[in-house]
Amino acid sequence: MNTEYLAKFYKKTYTEKIDALVKAELLTELQADNLKNEGVDLGQDIGEHMIENYIENYSLPLGVAMNFLIDNQETVVPMAIEEPSVIAAASFAAKIIGSAGGFTTVVSERMMIGQVTLKDVADPSTAIKKIKNSRQEILDRANEAHPSIVKRGGGAKDLSVRLLESDPSENIPSFLVVHLHIDTQEAMGANIVNTMMEGIAPYIEELTGGTALLRILSNYATECTATATCTIPSYKLKTTNFSGEEVRDRIVEAAQVAWVDPYRAVTHNKGIMNGVDAVVVASGNDWRAIEAGIHAYAARSGQYRALSKWHTNEKGDLVGTLTLPLPIGTVGGSISIHPAAKLSRTLLQEPDAKRLESILVSVGLAQNFAAIRALVTDGIQKGHMGLHARSLAISAGAKGAQVEKIAEALKKAPHMNLQTAKDYLSKL
Ligand code: MEV
Repeated sequence: MNTEYLAKFYKKTYTEKIDALVKAELLTELQADNLKNEGVDLGQDIGEHMIENYIENYSLPLGVAMNFLIDNQETVVPMAIEEPSVIAAASFAAKIIGSAGGFTTVVSERMMIGQVTLKDVADPSTAIKKIKNSRQEILDRANEAHPSIVKRGGGAKDLSVRLLESDPSENIPSFLVVHLHIDTQEAMGANIVNTMMEGIAPYIEELTGGTALLRILSNYATECTATATCTIPSYKLKTTNFSGEEVRDRIVEAAQVAWVDPYRAVTHNKGIMNGVDAVVVASGNDWRAIEAGIHAYAARSGQYRALSKWHTNEKGDLVGTLTLPLPIGTVGGSISIHPAAKLSRTLLQEPDAKRLESILVSVGLAQNFAAIRALVTDGIQKGHMGLHARSLAISAGAKGAQVEKIAEALKKAPHMNLQTAKDYLSKL
């Protein structure tokens, strides 16, 4: 990639932007022509095959965040999102962080968890012993149920058992849960895991005398995590009204609040998910799975807390870290079908699943930095209102050049609302 052509990207016209991506060697001429002429929306025929009772596509804007330096690799990040400020904020944060060395990431092994949950196990301790003694047989049966993943180097690798104690106060009996730990390689692996769990359930019933109630993957992928870290010298944080040290300390304090207060933690984490979800969607992955797992992870201590941590190191620099469970895939599902997901893969330079995790967690950290930096300095509205003005202008019916004109007028108006936008439009 040649990033010199991407400078001041946001100031370019639509055509200049696409041409710059070609010059930066992120798109071929052919891909750029396709994008300009046909776009990358789902065709009706594909849509009809993807879901039942299809009637139309529901589109989101797809944009690119700039300035990301992730593990020393420059990265242009495709993001699908309707919220006006998200891509601008990510690019702004990535620029500051990139000028300080960028993001460093660590990605765990990619192990998915599948569960067979048993009810009516009369003698749980004997059942647990039998399951443990039959570990290899269970793993073999799981792998026989999905031989192609084994051929690709993955498969069921380990097993564990959990006894969920009864809760008489809620009239809940005990359940016995068998976990398989499964390497799904480049896939998110829901189908692989579910096939395996259904494959082993009869044998587990035989071993335990219980009845398999549920046979499904867990979206709480605690063995598939990625961590991003960034270190920012405090002089880079200076604003008109605050010294760099003040901004640094206020960011650390804001993160402390989000650690102890669930009301703030949810909003803090929502900011992180602005970035994560936008890339998950652009890449064609299952954002509901990612959302569900990440919020459970935020509550792993028993209290819902901030996902990120910010502290000051011995040199006085601001250090941010974020760890997320990220069971995404780079093959399977709509990833290989949706034209926009294919375009996103091209822009990301065909990442493998671990690299995609590194990108996702870095974008989450960037988004968090941008949000809390704005919150503890000028406040969030200053940046938001300019973008909100454009949305109002569009809602009022403005087209083409009218949008900017009305947005500019709205920014100066005493009341920035839809009625004012409509009034300005009728005067134009
Ligand atoms: C808005 O979409 C996200 C923020 O509320 C996040 C935060 O408060 O940290 C700005």
